[in-house]
Amino acid sequence: MCGIIGYIGEKKAQPILIAGLKNLEYRGYDSAGIAAIDKGRLRIARAKGKIRQLEKKLSERPLPGTIGLGHNRWATHGLPSEENAHPHVDCKKNLVIIHNGIIENYLPLRERLKKEGHRFGSDTDTEVMVHLIEKYMNLGLETALRKALKMITGSYAIGLISRKDPGVLLAARQGSPLIVGLGKGENFIASDVPAILHLTKKVMYLCDGDIAILTPSNVRIKNMAGKTQSRKVREISWDPVSAKKSGYPHFMLKEIFEQPQAIEDTFTGRVSPEKGKVYLSEIGLSGKELKKIERVVITACGTSWHSALIGKFMMEEFARIPVEVDYAAEFRYRNPILNAKTLVIGISQSGETADTLGAMHEAKKQGARVISICNVVGSSITRETEGVIYTHAGPEIGVASTKAFSSQLVVLYLLSLYLSDIRKEIFLKKMRKYILDLKKIPFLIKEILKRHPEIESLANIFYKKTNALYLGRGEGYAVALEGALKLKEVSYIHSEGYPAAEMKHGPIALIDKNMPVVVLALKGRRYDKILGNISEVKARSGVVIALASAGDKKIKEKVDYIIYIPRTNEMLSAILAVIPMQLLAYYTAIKRGCNVDQPRNLAKSVTVE
Ligand code: AGP
Repeated sequence: MCGIIGYIGEKKAQPILIAGLKNLEYRGYDSAGIAAIDKGRLRIARAKGKIRQLEKKLSERPLPGTIGLGHNRWATHGLPSEENAHPHVDCKKNLVIIHNGIIENYLPLRERLKKEGHRFGSDTDTEVMVHLIEKYMNLGLETALRKALKMITGSYAIGLISRKDPGVLLAARQGSPLIVGLGKGENFIASDVPAILHLTKKVMYLCDGDIAILTPSNVRIKNMAGKTQSRKVREISWDPVSAKKSGYPHFMLKEIFEQPQAIEDTFTGRVSPEKGKVYLSEIGLSGKELKKIERVVITACGTSWHSALIGKFMMEEFARIPVEVDYAAEFRYRNPILNAKTLVIGISQSGETADTLGAMHEAKKQGARVISICNVVGSSITRETEGVIYTHAGPEIGVASTKAFSSQLVVLYLLSLYLSDIRKEIFLKKMRKYILDLKKIPFLIKEILKRHPEIESLANIFYKKTNALYLGRGEGYAVALEGALKLKEVSYIHSEGYPAAEMKHGPIALIDKNMPVVVLALKGRRYDKILGNISEVKARSGVVIALASAGDKKIKEKVDYIIYIPRTNEMLSAILAVIPMQLLAYYTAIKRGCNVDQPRNLAKSVTVE
């Protein structure tokens, strides 16, 4: 997820672009850049780090011009650096582009363009776009853009300007958000409303396939066939602060609702259902090296440790390889037995958690093969490992991890299938099915999110309680742990996740009508046993909220409340089951007047031991 902004009008572009990028920092902040055209000259300024680094450069050398583009980056391909920061230019420095999204087929296009003599200055997928447009510039700017867009697969929100044609700004959208802002004698493009809300409240939301042609006095929108389209002009009523949350009251809720997109962005470009293949070249180990691996250890902290627990089930189920899961702080000090046949995986949203970083150091010292799963390109942990599989969840601002967690599960699912393919544990037909199951998940999550009012009303059971219990079996136990952590960290209610079968070994003494019990009771190999655990709780006047599989009527007379979850394969069910738990924690905390985005005593990244 990155932030883009473009301006064409009579005012100086630079201050407008910088102010816009500052309002988009929540979309990405590892590097930034702007470009402007003035009297036929194209100038660019880019900097690694936050916007203030870019401002420092501009204070020494401002960019004149009344047409320009700006971008702040959340790296997905290519480390955060000045070279990889947008905007990017063509060989002759006539064209300049900014982009938010993922170009899946950028590598073959880049090779072909290089063979045709194009010279690249970055590792990014974006730069392929501007050279592709350059190749067809004999057709004119708009046609060259359209022709280039037809050759790429993936997602994009693009801004494009040309030194040779400074009276026009082009924009295009496919799969990544892009709006057009309408002013008097000026017009704008932006990833999101906060970038321009202080300049105009009139916006048009572009649709997939739209190409917008902006001049200072006019905006035309066409489709990929060049046919004019009309888009509704909307009046934005948000105040600037709520606009950064896209109208949601809190980043946590916004990020819960961003999960369909985050999950789609995480598997996009990494699967082929037709071929039954998963592509994870970034893993850093060859198929031959992975074949030598006899054991996997996954280590992490907090929510990332919960995703590791679920990853164990996935990897053992699909790749038939033994997997251990350990808290990073425990792993690094227990003198673990590791060797070159052990693959150690560190999972971290921030990539800066001190204990997980320490665990990576320990694993490397002991000669294990070490990779990481992370959401921040170029973060400390990623620099310690041989390979990194990035989640593409975009910046996660809320302290309570939500979209990063579900994206971690997607990466673990992909990795499990990848390893099973290498170890010939799963055959083509099943691989195709498992990949198609994954591709349905964003839609199924949207179905659950639509029922958020149901879950909000369930928060009435919890918000006055002081304790709660979450029970599950198998991967459902790990989801129970995550659900309990979400509730305790944002609402401060003491809540515990527990293996359902362990209830009779002590915790059942806690059960009474004041202890709400959430039970993962999805259909699967452990369903009947879970029903037995529910009866044990009910027999002690417990209040049971069950997460059940859609269509399950049998469970209705056994529990007090039901949240239905759409059916999917057992390994993916955790991704669906955690959504209602995130919402339940959020609404309960709101009813208790808690600060959900910055809960007391917590930090987004625990960089101390
Ligand atoms: C999760 O909601 C918490 N914020 C916390 O447990 C977090 O998962 C943990 O600190 C690990 O962070 P990391 O994924 O950035 O390493």
